[in-house]
Amino acid sequence: MAKTGENLRDKSRWSLGGMTALVTGGSKGIGDAVVEELATLGARVHTCGRDETQLQERLREWQAKGLQVTISVCDVSSRAQREELMKTASSVFQGKLNILVNNVGTCITKPTIEYTAEDFSFLMATNLESAFHLSQLAHPLLKASGSGSIVLMSSIVAVVHANFGSIYGATKGDINILPLWHFEVMHTY
Ligand SMILES: NC(=O)c1ccc[n+]([C@@H]2O[C@H](COP(=O)([O-])OP(=O)(O)OC[C@H]3O[C@@H](n4cnc5c(N)ncnc54)[C@H](OP(=O)(O)O)[C@@H]3O)[C@@H](O)[C@H]2O)c1
Repeated sequence: MAKTGENLRDKSRWSLGGMTALVTGGSKGIGDAVVEELATLGARVHTCGRDETQLQERLREWQAKGLQVTISVCDVSSRAQREELMKTASSVFQGKLNILVNNVGTCITKPTIEYTAEDFSFLMATNLESAFHLSQLAHPLLKASGSGSIVLMSSIVAVVHANFGSIYGATKGDINILPLWHFEVMHTY
């Protein structure tokens, strides 16, 4: 008997054939799983990360499975690199993007009182500013596709206290209230 996931993939209403997706941070963890799932459902997926070796390794595995995935080396905490990433995605997808998954997020585990200015800026740029700016940059591409969605990766620590990553939780709390009402927005905890 087929597993539930396999059944879902068999149904044409779950097909993402003809769709395009940009997933940030797809070389490992949740982003890796999202890339593979979207591509398995038929989407063409572009993803990024900072470590080129790891990205290339995953790319070889995706290609061996026949998945349509392309990659960019990009640090999404950099405004210039975000702009470059969106230019590349636009070129790869001929100006049309159906799904943007703002997956990248990181945490610095130390007491809040010990946070440096650099720690604070790094977390804000990586977790929050990147998601907002990439969503802005993606807007014309999402509109052009006629069916655009943005996925924002939040966390349970956005809504409940945890003994780690208080500033991490703050970035995720802000993610939850990003004013993206021009888009169809889905939150993931
Ligand atoms: N794991 C959990 O239990 C959990 C729970 C709640 C929410 N989340 C959220 O889910 C998302 C994914 O978490 P995860 O645990 O799967 O993370 P992860 O395993 O650390 O993977 C992060 C991915 O993002 C890439 N990345 C990190 N910083 C980047 C940057 N500045 N620019 C471009 N790529 C970058 C990493 O590759 P490189 O290092 O090569 O750049 C990697 O591919 C995050 O937003 C996280 O906050 C995770």
